[in-house]
Amino acid sequence: MLRLAVLVSGGGTNLQAIMDSIDNGTITNAEIVTVISNNAGAYALERAKNYGAEALLLSPKDFATREEFNEKLLEALKERNIDLVVLAGYLVVVPSCVIKEFENRIINIHPSLIPSFCGTGCYGLHVHEKALARGVKVSGATVHFVDEGTDTGPIILQKPVMIEQDDTPEVLQRRIMEQAEWKILPQAIDMIANGRVTVEGRTVRLK
Ligand code: GRF
Repeated sequence: MLRLAVLVSGGGTNLQAIMDSIDNGTITNAEIVTVISNNAGAYALERAKNYGAEALLLSPKDFATREEFNEKLLEALKERNIDLVVLAGYLVVVPSCVIKEFENRIINIHPSLIPSFCGTGCYGLHVHEKALARGVKVSGATVHFVDEGTDTGPIILQKPVMIEQDDTPEVLQRRIMEQAEWKILPQAIDMIANGRVTVEGRTVRLK
């Protein structure tokens, strides 16, 4: 049984998709051990409580130094014997100590087809604003392993979503969530939980 920690900062719709997928059998061999947020007001924490999972608040603001926060986050993951860390709209930079300890065991959902519209400062609505400003006809979502860079880790799954005439960033964001994010993030977790994902250098092989 793959032990999951889901890290969140916002509304938690991707967390909800994971919880629903475990409940309806789309995800097998995995359980949510804890949901961790840096944001006390994150509705994702309410979703975790309603689901019956631990909802843990760990914010850099509550620690004297960033180093202390980093160590506390790593400790929280290790003492819960976490197998896979899932970033689902987590807006805190993952500390290198966590990345080293969980090499190829941290995944992230990004709301574009990486390498387009990603990297530092490109998150949330900014991603969709950039896609619309560039005039691309197709965007989508990407699930990737997390390495020391920003959105640079090996890509696990991608799903394209058509951009429609007169899309606003908000409308596009919602369509990408519904048609892509909420499908490929659970799918990636299920594949990892069932041993169907292997990393070979910078590429990922799926069985
Ligand atoms: C999603 O758009 C996701 O792609 C991005 O942050 C947003 C999180 O939304 N990483 P939610 O908190 O899962 O609703």
